Amino acid sequence: MSGTDDIKALEAELTAAVAAAGDEAALETLRVEALGKKGRISLMMRSLGQMSPEERQVMGPALNGLKDRVADAIAAKKTALEAAALDARLATERADISLPPRPEPKGALHPVTQVMEELAVIFSDMGFAVAEGPDVEDDFHNFTALNFPEGHPARDTHDTFFFKPRADGSRMLLRTHTSPVQIRTLMNQKPPIRIIAPGRVYRCDWDQTHTPMFHQVEGLVIDKEAHMGHLKGLLMDFVAAFFETDEVEARFRPHHFPFTEPSAEMDVKYERVGDAVKVGSGDKWMEILGCGMVHPNVIAACGLDPDEYQGFAWGMGVDRLAMLKYGAPDLRDYFANDVRWLSHYGFSPLLQANLATGLS
Ligand code: DAH
Repeated sequence: MSGTDDIKALEAELTAAVAAAGDEAALETLRVEALGKKGRISLMMRSLGQMSPEERQVMGPALNGLKDRVADAIAAKKTALEAAALDARLATERADISLPPRPEPKGALHPVTQVMEELAVIFSDMGFAVAEGPDVEDDFHNFTALNFPEGHPARDTHDTFFFKPRADGSRMLLRTHTSPVQIRTLMNQKPPIRIIAPGRVYRCDWDQTHTPMFHQVEGLVIDKEAHMGHLKGLLMDFVAAFFETDEVEARFRPHHFPFTEPSAEMDVKYERVGDAVKVGSGDKWMEILGCGMVHPNVIAACGLDPDEYQGFAWGMGVDRLAMLKYGAPDLRDYFANDVRWLSHYGFSPLLQANLATGLS
């Protein structure tokens, strides 16, 4: 083999190829072909072992020189290609700073979503978790376990949507309130329990203040010593936080619910300001929720000992809270899917309700 002549020819060939490489991928292919494990230069270097010492003395330095120069050429070309690629990107990706800023997002949160967020923020700050239950319920969870005996007239007030009877005669139904989540929670968790349960409920009713689907939020506290005083303080704190006021005047009127004993409705002092209400001033009373001490029958129906555990619950209409706070007067509009209404009464999805910078 003519040795150094071959090396010169190879160097000329490789240098020309490096100079001609059009992009980094081509250059990399070239590098592997020349200097990779099975590259041409690497194979030649491997043959040094079979040479006579004299030959090796000439070929060794010659091959090393070749290897270094080719590697240098490739490195230099790589730098040049990278610089060229960057220049090309900078030329095409120039930002036009005269363009207007990013447009406002078009979507808005529905007031019901907003109020549910606010409720979760307020009650999670008080140590409550959010619980959920199914919209399609059975009679046991919606009525029986909540101390509505079979045939009890209180069942009729609920305008229930029933499904067709099943083979065994039982009928599933659309839950008429969020109270069945109390039962599901009591049957699945160990006290102490502190949950709120927001969600959809259904009743066969339709006018300015009633829609067949609406929203409620349930609250439940079960512990060994939770009492009516706690309930009262908690709900007053809630009303103050929700209506973003320090002055709440409230009264609790005796009422009846099958699942609480004693039961009450909570009224707050308010005055109208346009379509919304201002809570804390004025001279009118407005009912905002039902509440009471959980009936011992309910606690027992869930497998807990009513002599050991007690607690309180409350329930209120989320849509109604939204109407009061944000002043959209006709409940039917809430579910009409009119984008003009939504953009007027909706909330920015980018401003999340929180207690530090404000709920709304
Ligand atoms: N479930 C009741 C309803 O839909 C509301 C309610 C009242 C819930 C009192 C409660 C409560 O948890 O204690 O009318």
